[in-house]
Amino acid sequence: MNDALIDAARRAREHARAHFSHFRVGAALETADGTIVTGCNIENATYGLTICAERVAMFKALSEGHQRFTRIAIVADTDDPTSPCGPCRQILWEFGGDLEVILANLSEEKGRYMLRDLLPLPFDARVLGHKR
Ligand code: THU
Repeated sequence: MNDALIDAARRAREHARAHFSHFRVGAALETADGTIVTGCNIENATYGLTICAERVAMFKALSEGHQRFTRIAIVADTDDPTSPCGPCRQILWEFGGDLEVILANLSEEKGRYMLRDLLPLPFDARVLGHKR
């Protein structure tokens, strides 16, 4: 399916700093008002400070004042869908809620999921007794 959000994630992937894994990922997060905020994975020489494309997109968006989100597209050059890692699922859930997660590669869409299905029984602020 042709989708501007997927195209934005593909373009963001071009900026990935993946000199160590050579695995480049792009993400595009859609806000409630239709703004698209992108991210790419950024690795560094210590490896452990790597940050995934999804979290770059979410942290950029939060830092720019966005608070409500609807969808995120994630793109990698893989035949099987590249889905978000555990830490990214947690961050997307806590700050984005039940996003639609669209997985795609360079040429086609590979699937759509709701985040609640990718992160069942989540730990979040409600467990701590806070309202979201
Ligand atoms: N990576 C992402 O950016 N997002 C994902 O959904 C999966 C993994 C990055 C982290 C690291 O830079 C590289 O891909 C290999 O794991």
